[in-house]
Amino acid sequence: MQDRLAELTARAAAELATTERAGLEDWRLAYLGRSGELTALLRQIGKLPASERPEAGRAANAVRDELTQALEERRRQLARSGLEPLDVTMPGFAARTGGLHPITATINEIRQVLARIGFRSVASTEVESDDYNFSKLNIPEGHPARAMWDTFFIDAPGYPGQMLLRTHTSPAQARVMEQIPPPVRIIVPGKVFRYEDVDASHEAMFHQVEGLAIDTGITMADLRGTLEFCVRAMFGHDRKVRIRGSYFPFTEPSCEADMSCPFCRQRGCRVCGNSGWVELLGAGMVHPNVLAKVGYDPDRYCGFAFGMGVERIAMIRHGIDDIRHFYRNDLRFLRQFATI
Ligand code: FA5
Repeated sequence: MQDRLAELTARAAAELATTERAGLEDWRLAYLGRSGELTALLRQIGKLPASERPEAGRAANAVRDELTQALEERRRQLARSGLEPLDVTMPGFAARTGGLHPITATINEIRQVLARIGFRSVASTEVESDDYNFSKLNIPEGHPARAMWDTFFIDAPGYPGQMLLRTHTSPAQARVMEQIPPPVRIIVPGKVFRYEDVDASHEAMFHQVEGLAIDTGITMADLRGTLEFCVRAMFGHDRKVRIRGSYFPFTEPSCEADMSCPFCRQRGCRVCGNSGWVELLGAGMVHPNVLAKVGYDPDRYCGFAFGMGVERIAMIRHGIDDIRHFYRNDLRFLRQFATI
């Protein structure tokens, strides 16, 4: 039996060495297939004396493994050699592509909608100074309004206690106005950071889109019109926008805007906490002190600003009931939004 196995191995290996790709399957059937030579030998093992059977069985299995591996190696060798004729009619391999994160896709959508009414998108810095995050926004040191945002300060050599991770995109208002004269019509999408108690609707890192429009004669009606245009373009004409009075030190008057929740016809809606409304943004008319600080004449120019929560918008867009899903990196969640 051992001799026959050795002879079979040598013969099969020699034949394999000269077999091209088209012949590989025939080779496999001839030696390893159900009616192949090795299978025939295996069947004869049962007829051997009982004492010889275990050894013969082990040897035959080893030969099968060896030949199977040799076949794989020959396949790889042929593929590597590049001498294989290329069959252009074979189906291709689908390339697995990545997709945009749902938050990136939502920001792009907001950009496109607001571009239609003249807002240009610009970027601003995530590591900010205390000055831009607070003081230039009419929140001087010691002002109680600083407590509205739980802030991550960072150790920046040479700037003790002065640098932080921006708590909102509003510092970009001052940065942009210092760079360009009015009129201004920009949006600033980006990450913001807060020392939050994380729950289903609050993250410690999330995204905002800041909006700023400065010109002569701008009113709250323009703000309302812009928000309604945006919400209806993204969510349809039956969506309602609710404006509530609020307080921000850098706007006067200030408000918060909510959108009617499209999901809460079902009882126990977790998207809006069953209130029927989802909080979208803070907004208001830019405070004259902020305009004066960046060198704009507050008697001549005025305008509105808003800061939208992007995750909240994406949650309504896709019916997601927990903000924490966005940053768990669970591919089963992310693949549902795989658009490029
Ligand atoms: C602000 O951040 C102001 N800078 C907005 C503003 C801009 C007012 C310009 C006036 C003029 P607020 O803290 O309310 O405001 O946040 C704005 C929006 O961000 C909220 O309406 C909400 O949609 C979203 N948001 C706030 N905190 C969180 C959080 N922890 N997780 C996810 N989204 C949040």
